[in-house]
Amino acid sequence: MADPPTGRTPVSIYEQLGGASFFDALAARFYAGVAGDPVLRPLYPKDMTDAEANLRDFLIQFWGGPDDYSRRRGHPMLRARHLPFSIGRQERDAWMRHMAAAVRSSGAPAELATELLDYFERAATHLLNAEPPRPGHLPIVPPPGERRVDD
Ligand code: HEM
Repeated sequence: MADPPTGRTPVSIYEQLGGASFFDALAARFYAGVAGDPVLRPLYPKDMTDAEANLRDFLIQFWGGPDDYSRRRGHPMLRARHLPFSIGRQERDAWMRHMAAAVRSSGAPAELATELLDYFERAATHLLNAEPPRPGHLPIVPPPGERRVDD
């Protein structure tokens, strides 16, 4: 059964943050940081206009705004789209540092800023694709006839 009407419409985080202009400014500040970053800058194309628009539209869509991102780019598939770039701890942490600075200077209320930062932390970790395999992470299947190192 549907919940009884409360007279309130849930307000998206997109709306709570003030709509497109918030994400426009966030993406601009983030890319201004990337532009001067020796680890990240080489990963991006010379002209970062499209990269900035893609990030802005993705975030607008993710947080409940219009779906221009998917209309232009299709399904986000963020992990697959990042596979061409080698993302290790260093790249991830540099990315996160610039995004955290952009969020902190965005004027977002503390509760929403925390929600954004938690999401970015998780998303950035999910995109790691250049980690050395951890011991025990891969199945140990020794080739036939080969002794196990711990025999
Ligand atoms: C972890 C560190 C990250 C690195 C090093 C990184 C790097 C990049 C690079 C090099 C591009 C391609 C830009 C271009 O070709 O114009 C890109 C695209 C993109 N990134 Fe990241 N990224 C990272 C994390 C993230 C995170 C956490 C998000 C979202 C929360 C994100 C969202 C996007 C989006 C939406 C695009 C555009 C995809 C498309 O439509 O083609 N990235 N990123």
